[in-house]
Amino acid sequence: MLYPEDLIEEVRTRNDIVDVISEYVKLTKRGSTYFGLCPFHNEKTPSFSVTPGKQMYYCFGCGAGGNVITFLMEYENYTFPEAVQVLAARAGIELPKAEMSAERRKEADLKTVLFEIHKEAGRYFYYQLKTPQGEKAYRYLTGRGLTDETIRHFGLGYSHPYRDDLYLYMKKKGYPDSILKETGLFRIEEKGASDKFWNRVMYPIMDVNSRIIGFGGRVMGEGEPKYLNSPETKLFDKSRNLYGLNFARSAKRPYLLMCEGYMDVISLHQAGFTNAVASLGTALTLPQANLLKRYTDQVILTYDSDGAGTKAAVRAIPILKEAGLSVKVLSLSPYKDPDEFIQNLGAEAYEQRAGEASNHFLFEIGVIKREYDLSDPEQKTEFYHAIAQKLLEFPEELERNNYLDAVCGKYFIPKDSLRQLVNQKGRQVGLTARREPGKRAEERRTGPEKEDGLRTSQRMLLTWLANDGQVYEKVRDWIGPEDFTAMLYQKVAGMLFEQLERGEVAPGRILNHFINDEEEYREVARIFHAELPAELTKEEKEKAFSETVKRVKKNSLDRIGRTVTDMAQLQRVMQEQAALANLHISFD
Ligand code: UTP
Ligand code: MN
Repeated sequence: MLYPEDLIEEVRTRNDIVDVISEYVKLTKRGSTYFGLCPFHNEKTPSFSVTPGKQMYYCFGCGAGGNVITFLMEYENYTFPEAVQVLAARAGIELPKAEMSAERRKEADLKTVLFEIHKEAGRYFYYQLKTPQGEKAYRYLTGRGLTDETIRHFGLGYSHPYRDDLYLYMKKKGYPDSILKETGLFRIEEKGASDKFWNRVMYPIMDVNSRIIGFGGRVMGEGEPKYLNSPETKLFDKSRNLYGLNFARSAKRPYLLMCEGYMDVISLHQAGFTNAVASLGTALTLPQANLLKRYTDQVILTYDSDGAGTKAAVRAIPILKEAGLSVKVLSLSPYKDPDEFIQNLGAEAYEQRAGEASNHFLFEIGVIKREYDLSDPEQKTEFYHAIAQKLLEFPEELERNNYLDAVCGKYFIPKDSLRQLVNQKGRQVGLTARREPGKRAEERRTGPEKEDGLRTSQRMLLTWLANDGQVYEKVRDWIGPEDFTAMLYQKVAGMLFEQLERGEVAPGRILNHFINDEEEYREVARIFHAELPAELTKEEKEKAFSETVKRVKKNSLDRIGRTVTDMAQLQRVMQEQAALANLHISFD
């Protein structure tokens, strides 16, 4: 980290979070908490809360949360050092000057430097576009209907035809090879260095906070490969980012549009659909679906209408559903992709197609139908069987019946016959109406659920400890940080227990340690903001708390018990297990 921890802590504590956030969001006090409309997602009733006691904010709607530093990082798209600098200036704290020598850079947080290099590279490519060399690239983009405003908005650029142009530029700025290597933008070998991208139109890829984390480079016209992309680096994780999400997250629409290509996203945004995103040259992943779920409940798939696009859509549907999203599919026919559709029919027609987007189930059935020749009675029967099989994937009878009605209506199938077929198949695989078919589904249910339950207990215990110092006195003899088996919680517990021991709990301080990983810091923020069961009686509370402690400790003891080899130690574990069975913690 660029600055010493004490100094960061001083900057944080000298900037009251309510004061700072009030400069951006209108807050109203309710009890000991302030509420306002969340600046990170679109909402009509306030679910964004700021708690002065904890010096933290949290949105109950989208899960955004953090301290005063992360607020500026999210809102202003600052890096961590930038946010610290702004807040230091605000509080009149002098920071040591960060020297920009190569040595100093090495010490500085690597990720911060990587962000910086990507930002500089993005600027450089953008600048090239406006030089005489870049004219053909500029013409290529405008030839595809992009306006200057769109080119600027997405930071599109051009990589020089000389093979080491960007490399020399970065060297002149003083970046050492060891760091440039980590960017994935260069090929650095014994015999010399060269740029990964040259003579291509450049598409910067940004994370949700609009920081450039990689690039896609397209050949102008025909050529292989059509797109070259940054490799995975410390910044660039293709399975956890989505192209365009930095803009789409604040689009004022009830759904997000999921497409395949960079150009589709750009074209849709230019046409007013600022809610479009795309995966990064790979198939959609569950982490990406979970990321989407933070910003919306509904996704409309608008993949290419060719075979590959249809296949990709069929694969994406169960993943999106697993993340809890409702999924519809938009038909682009007769055009190939959203870009082409918009170029030909315009935004209004696209809007209409979005309105007519079909439920994912009917889309899937439509795809299955292509495998059968329905003029052949035998194949027709097989098709009905395939539909029945697919219907069984709905665990709820009511939902299943609704889809059954819809599909019967569409393909003129007698409802009673299909229902009979479904029931018959359900019995064959040995399930009652309420269970999911197949072994995989069964495994999915038992495995992770248990694990989730444990995580929940561990998280609840942390929430409890962070909110009520008295509770700590009651459990310090029973529970230690090592009992939190989820690694993230163990880290948090380590710091929290230390603070509790000293009698000064500062969740905002703990959060600073997770600032480099958005996923982690959101989860940690959630720990500190979760609600404790409020309406419970004292007895109920004691019971709930005791059970939570028991579950966490039992898991930890079981774990030790499984690996222990020494008899004496095993005996101790067994004694503790026995004592645990009678544990009851009272809040007096
Ligand atoms: P497309 O070929 O549909 O690209 O691939 P596109 O974005 O619509 O581009 P245009 O309109 O032809 O210029 C969809 C996505 O697949 C990835 C890219 O992310 C692309 O946007 N891709 C495609 C690659 O990574 N490499 C390739 O060679 C081709
Ligand atoms: Mn395309």
